[in-house]
Amino acid sequence: MAEPSTTTLALVGIVTVSDRASRGDYEDRGGPAIQQYLEDVLCSKWSVVEELVPDEQEQVERAIVELAAVGCCLILTTGGTGPALRDVTPEATEAVCSKMLPGFGEVMRAASLQVVPTAILSRQTAGICNGALVVNLPGQPKAVGECLDAVFAAVPFCIDLLEGPYLETDPDRIVAFRPRR
Ligand code: MTE
Repeated sequence: MAEPSTTTLALVGIVTVSDRASRGDYEDRGGPAIQQYLEDVLCSKWSVVEELVPDEQEQVERAIVELAAVGCCLILTTGGTGPALRDVTPEATEAVCSKMLPGFGEVMRAASLQVVPTAILSRQTAGICNGALVVNLPGQPKAVGECLDAVFAAVPFCIDLLEGPYLETDPDRIVAFRPRR
């Protein structure tokens, strides 16, 4: 594994998937909630690239692929994970990922179930697209922290394994777990 460099800028992609936000019917609140979470948790240098797309599988796929192609090491999606007819974010994620990481969805659902009984309605998953870790989050802004708190300790090491930038977290919020260095 390469020596850790904390000076490399980590690009994080945020994809808000919402018919109504993309039409301008209401303001996107999921994307800003993710950005706020990263500001609270990450100590190393990072920057964000955002996309807002409707619940169309092809457009969700294209957004993820584009963000991976511009060098994002982490891509967080919000919305479109439920059972509604137009919810296709997990399908889009699976279609563009070469490997799936089902543990993320399992753990996020289990943690969310402590908060809302409807947590089991989310089909959220995670996977690897062109070297980027892609993680689905539900569309509720409060779900962002509820879900990321459950998995974020494993995110920096996952990105190490993908030879991405060395992410550092504020240990008062999340202690990044790295089993070997
Ligand atoms: N998980 C958390 N942590 N908090 C929530 O409020 N909402 C649930 C579920 N998971 C929720 C959650 C609900 S009501 C739905 S329908 C599904 O996520 C799918 O949401 P989405 O279609 O907006 O992605």
